[in-house]
Amino acid sequence: MNVPKPAVELGALGLMRRLFAEHAKQHIWAYVAAAVFMAIGAAMTAASAYLLKPIVNNMVVGSDFKALRTLSWAVFGLFTVRGLCTFGAQLFLSRTGNRIVADVQRQLFDRLLAQDMRFLNERHSAEFITRLSIAAGSVRDTLQVMITSVSRDALTAIGLVAVMIYQDPLLALIALSGLPIAGLTLGRLIVKMRKFARRSYDGSTRIAETLQEAVMGARIVKSFNLQSAMRERMRSAVREVERSANRMASSAAISSPMSDILAGFAIGAVIFYGSWRVTVQHTDPGALFSFVGSLMLAYEPLKRLGRVNLDIQGGLVGARLIYDILDRPAVEAEVPGLPQLDVRGGQIVFENVRFGYRSDEAVLKDLSLVAEPNTTTALVGPSGGGKSTIIGLIQRFYTPDAGRIQIDGQDVLKVNLHSLRASIAFVSQDVFLFRGTIRENIALGRPGANDEEIVAAAEKAYAHEFISGFANGYYTNVGEQGAQLSGGQRARIAIARAILKDAPILLLDEPTAALDSESEREIQKALDALRVGRTTVVVAHRLQTIINADRICVIDGGRVAESGVHAQLIARDGVYRDFFHMQFGGAAEVAAPTS
Ligand SMILES: Nc1ncnc2c1ncn2[C@@H]1O[C@H](COP(=O)(O)OP(=O)(O)OP(=O)(O)O)[C@@H](O)[C@H]1O
Ligand SMILES: [Mg+2]
Repeated sequence: MNVPKPAVELGALGLMRRLFAEHAKQHIWAYVAAAVFMAIGAAMTAASAYLLKPIVNNMVVGSDFKALRTLSWAVFGLFTVRGLCTFGAQLFLSRTGNRIVADVQRQLFDRLLAQDMRFLNERHSAEFITRLSIAAGSVRDTLQVMITSVSRDALTAIGLVAVMIYQDPLLALIALSGLPIAGLTLGRLIVKMRKFARRSYDGSTRIAETLQEAVMGARIVKSFNLQSAMRERMRSAVREVERSANRMASSAAISSPMSDILAGFAIGAVIFYGSWRVTVQHTDPGALFSFVGSLMLAYEPLKRLGRVNLDIQGGLVGARLIYDILDRPAVEAEVPGLPQLDVRGGQIVFENVRFGYRSDEAVLKDLSLVAEPNTTTALVGPSGGGKSTIIGLIQRFYTPDAGRIQIDGQDVLKVNLHSLRASIAFVSQDVFLFRGTIRENIALGRPGANDEEIVAAAEKAYAHEFISGFANGYYTNVGEQGAQLSGGQRARIAIARAILKDAPILLLDEPTAALDSESEREIQKALDALRVGRTTVVVAHRLQTIINADRICVIDGGRVAESGVHAQLIARDGVYRDFFHMQFGGAAEVAAPTS
């Protein structure tokens, strides 16, 4: 396959060319149709300029009224056809531009889904919002400028310059000599434009970021009286965008007086020299009129052509931001040929695993543990010890730096990723609910599940009762990230989702938030029902979960410091005992397994 050059190395036009090249094939007929329309339109403009010659000659020299009437009709006809052609071309090109942007947005999102946790964690979601909406939109605008004006302008200018050369080659040379000068001066503005366009994107990202945080963190904003701090953050971002927009506008505007002055000089010179030729040398006045007419008609398209590089700079910065993601390898794309994970019992083995999020800080150092099938393994230990990290590594959110993680003897790195994750039901520490209803959120565990299955899962998760208490029942909206539910309710919906998935391995990262003892007992019962016939690894923060576990692993200092059942570990007088006393006080000795 032909590997495209990275977007960062491409110049402005190279980038545009790439954008077209990658999409042009599907849209070739739209382009051909648009080109035909534009060519006809440009020919009409040139013809109308050309007609000035017989018009003037008939008026001044011949006074042939009948011919003039025909010519008037001809001009009317030309302009009508030109208008229709412009309409046709614009329609084809806008639609194609919109289609290209839609394709780009789809590709961008697909690529985003294929990125690993590391990439996603390093960025704020607002950054992607800016890329997907603003950057994609500006690419569309740029495409529109590029094709609608450029192609049409180029063809029109070519037609009119041809008329000028036909009428008077020497005069044409004089008139067009100013073009290179205009081109050179414009080039300098482009660098500036690019800089401010980039700043404007960064500002837009910060606007989206602040907005998102002000809404999602509304409770904290209100409780800590952060309104003025948030307002200041928003103001500075808005100011940045406004300032860059102004600088871009003035860079673009300065090109106008510059080219007007140049054009004024050229047209003046042509009129001076031309009228001298007509009055003194008695050349054809119609030809001069046609020439001046062509020159004036060509001025606007030429001006736009000269500025086009300037006009598209903003869009190109957007295109670059988009390609920055599109060109990133799809880290989580399936490696062809990897076998499906074959879960028999579901034994999970960590063998001397070493892992750190940052290269210089190991979170897990030489960690080994075994989670046996049909049992519940509880991970306990100090906050930040690496418990959630272990849960993430089993699901291959990250790759260990050393060591091996195996499920039934198969290295998780060497099996089909989709099959690995299909074998695991996961309840995260910070429960995540999607937009929509409770039913939709549970159903995500197994798309296509019917009502009975969903209700059964909710019952097992001890969620059915509270759900039925809502006026809309399973059709109650959960709000953004479940904001309209309580913490315990969110947790039970997430458990119902995992139950519905019915996978052989259950990974449960218990929320640290305390639940009332009633909900806690219910969740505990739900988990007891679940552990039968599968491997459960639970990051345990609750007393009940810990003492009910078949095996407890204390994660401390990046290793398994101790492991065994509760009674054993308490008797041993080691880290577990200390940890337990610290966490639950005197309840330790009296608490006995309930199952
Ligand atoms: N995405 C991340 N990027 C960088 N460092 C991280 C990331 N996630 C966690 N860490 C760090 O890794 C360490 C282990 O975190 P982890 O979430 O596994 O702890 P934990 O044992 O689950 O703690 P808790 O009981 O509080 O949930 C912590 O020091 C944390 O700061
Ligand atoms: Mg955790």
